[in-house]
Amino acid sequence: MEPNSGRLPGLEATGPQMEPRATSSAAAPLRRQFRVLVGVTGSVAALKLPLLVSKLLDIPDLEVAVVTTERAKHFYSPRDVPVTLYSDADEWEMWKRRSDPVLHIDLRRWADLMLVAPLDANTLGKVASGICDNLLTCVIRAWDRSKPLLFCPAMNTAMWEHPITEQQVGQLKDFGYIEIPCVAKKLVCGDQGLGAMAEVGTIVGKVKEVLSQRQLPAELNPGFLSPASL
Ligand SMILES: Cc1cc2nc3c(=O)[nH]c(=O)nc-3n(C[C@H](O)[C@H](O)[C@H](O)COP(=O)(O)O)c2cc1C
Repeated sequence: MEPNSGRLPGLEATGPQMEPRATSSAAAPLRRQFRVLVGVTGSVAALKLPLLVSKLLDIPDLEVAVVTTERAKHFYSPRDVPVTLYSDADEWEMWKRRSDPVLHIDLRRWADLMLVAPLDANTLGKVASGICDNLLTCVIRAWDRSKPLLFCPAMNTAMWEHPITEQQVGQLKDFGYIEIPCVAKKLVCGDQGLGAMAEVGTIVGKVKEVLSQRQLPAELNPGFLSPASL
């Protein structure tokens, strides 16, 4: 499948503020889709990005975009990801002068929910300590904590069992972020134990659960995403 190489529709339509706007008459009620931003990091579980995105797109009225780290790119082909995919180069190529968008800020405004899947040990450590040296960690560092952020740790069992992991996961939960816990299985490296990313079905189920509790403001989307529609 060809990736969508364009910018986010909301970004093209409205510029840096990225507020939704009516596409028909001025009197028509504003209506837009719920926007999920998927962050993907350099865990082998990034192999599942195409499946994860396709399952998210099965949810009615959902718009999806992806922010990737450079290492994560090793594990999937952009051709298999049918939504807009952003990486570090986009952030810097987009900004030439003062009037240009700052991508990490536009993305945090654009998204209604962020899902980091997989969240590897490296980016976990960065997020826990506030480091923001790439597009993904800048979006997270600037995240509006009144919106949900879900994260799916994924790492080797030895990394998972290191005491720093519990501290860092606890820090993210203290920020108000929602953990989708890793599971035990035989890992790609051959080790057996905890550290594998949660199953895609589990992750998508959790996204639906969070969305069902979180309506967009009624003036933007009357009747949007009632639990019955999920
Ligand atoms: C084949 C391979 C698989 C890896 N899988 C994982 C993993 O599952 N979890 C993890 O925390 N790191 C894993 N790593 C290490 C990360 O890719 C590495 O820490 C990298 O710097 C992460 O960068 P990022 O957080 O910017 O994506 C793996 C590395 C390789 C080469």
